[in-house]
Amino acid sequence: MPSTAMMSLLAVVCVMCVEECVCFPNGSVVISCGNMMPVHPPFTASTSSPPFTLSTSSATYRPGEVITVTVEVVKNSSMEFQGFLLQARSWQGQALLWPIGKFRGINTSLFTAVHCNNMENSTVSQASVAKKKKVQLTWEAPSNSYYGDIFFSASLVQDYTTFWVQLNSSTLSLESSGNSAAGAFSSSTLIFISLLSLCVHC
Ligand SMILES: *[C@@H]1O[C@H](CO)[C@@H](O)[C@H](O)[C@H]1NC(C)=O
Ligand SMILES: *[C@@H]1O[C@H](CO)[C@@H](O)[C@H](O)[C@H]1NC(C)=O
Ligand SMILES: *[C@@H]1O[C@H](CO)[C@@H](O)[C@H](O)[C@H]1NC(C)=O
Ligand SMILES: *[C@@H]1O[C@H](CO)[C@@H](O)[C@H](O)[C@H]1NC(C)=O
Ligand SMILES: *[C@@H]1O[C@H](CO)[C@@H](O)[C@H](O)[C@H]1NC(C)=O
Repeated sequence: MPSTAMMSLLAVVCVMCVEECVCFPNGSVVISCGNMMPVHPPFTASTSSPPFTLSTSSATYRPGEVITVTVEVVKNSSMEFQGFLLQARSWQGQALLWPIGKFRGINTSLFTAVHCNNMENSTVSQASVAKKKKVQLTWEAPSNSYYGDIFFSASLVQDYTTFWVQLNSSTLSLESSGNSAAGAFSSSTLIFISLLSLCVHC
């Protein structure tokens, strides 16, 4: 296929998934909210221990509460990442394929607000492939108690061929009443895996 035709095809594919995906500026990598499998056959998610941590400002949450979420490379690592996707999920609704809550005050010069499943600002991605060691976002819990215990989940892209998908934070348990034990829960709990997807080569 001539390369111009290929470029047009890629452009069309990119436009088609623009609702769900965030394309890097050069169009070579896409992160989507949808399924878990990388789309590009040669490259699959890294199985090595993720060189990142995903931590939260609290180990509990109440409906409507605002939580700070931090994704950063492990201490003393020379690693940097170009892309990421971050959202909150419910343990009660593990089968749910959509995020809960929404991010607040998204600085659009740094981040892209992603409206997964038509839920505005429920997910955040990068605004550029500038190399990063840390991103910090503010998230607002749903206003009801329906979702029970929750966790955050992140996918991270180091470069075109190397990425980690479905990394889970520790659980934030729902505090149904009373005062929050405004804790200094910032333990850089090692990341686990959750439900986000990366399609490479869109
Ligand atoms: C990181 O590097 C500093 C200075 O080299 C060292 O003091 C510290 O112990 C290192 N931390 C870890 C977790 O390796
Ligand atoms: C979503 O985030 C954008 C960018 O920060 C903001 O302008 C918009 O008001 C937000 N929408 C909602 C529903 O929070
Ligand atoms: C958004 O991020 C840019 C780049 O880091 C910074 O210059 C700007 O002050 C930030 N805006 C807000 C409202 O924090
Ligand atoms: C696209 O950008 C990424 C990140 O900067 C880079 O790793 C990759 O090589 C680029 N791909 C092409 C085809 O330019
Ligand atoms: C992260 O959470 C998802 C959703 O429950 C689960 O499928 C996945 O196995 C979790 N990852 C790890 C490493 O436990």
